[in-house]
Amino acid sequence: MVTFVTTNPGKIHEAQEYLDEPVEQLDFDYPEVQADNLATVAAHGARAAYEHTGEPVIVDDSGLTIEALGGFPGPYSSYVEDKLGIERVWKLTEAEEKRSGAFRAVIAYCDGEGFAATPEPVDRGGSEDDQRRGQDLAADERPSATTDEQVAGGEDAIPVKLFEGVVPGEIVAPRGDGGFGFDPIFEYDGKTFAEMDTDEKNAVSHRGRALAKFAEWYATR
Ligand code: IMP
Repeated sequence: MVTFVTTNPGKIHEAQEYLDEPVEQLDFDYPEVQADNLATVAAHGARAAYEHTGEPVIVDDSGLTIEALGGFPGPYSSYVEDKLGIERVWKLTEAEEKRSGAFRAVIAYCDGEGFAATPEPVDRGGSEDDQRRGQDLAADERPSATTDEQVAGGEDAIPVKLFEGVVPGEIVAPRGDGGFGFDPIFEYDGKTFAEMDTDEKNAVSHRGRALAKFAEWYATR
């Protein structure tokens, strides 16, 4: 069994589609660290949740990164959506020449044991194009103050394995009624996420990509 720490039951259903193991929801409000990259936030959350439950846990953190805005809003996506709203984020981006962006999700897994066979904590799989763009954005997302060591939590920290899913797209004027959050201003392959039905979005989404990588690795564990 894997415990998914989230307040959102929709994420449990989505995770269950990828995993053979039963996925259980734990509504645990772990303290969220202030960090300007998703990996650090997810890693700290997974450690805190594992220390709380003593069971294998996954925690996810996701957000929209806009290249011309230095990766903004990134881990602050929920806050920015709430305070500024997506229309104003579009207005900020409209003024830019390049409007590429990406949805990113990081899943952090912790079961109190080590990952000696996989020293690289972030798996950046995916298509070559996604990898190239994903890595550009990842570099933007990691200012010099944020080191892999911070993500890793220092020598004595409980190991955490990170899985990253990225979907590259374009920021556009809002279109479509479906989805949530920034979906109406994120275009992938000619359609905004808000113009796709749930299955269409899940098939390409950042969370789906991160879950698929996690499921593949977890099956071998
Ligand atoms: P969370 O990690 O699911 O809590 O998402 C954090 C925030 O990122 C959300 O409140 C949204 O603003 C944004 N976000 C993450 N994933 C998506 C998505 O698939 N569509 C639209 N917005 C998203």
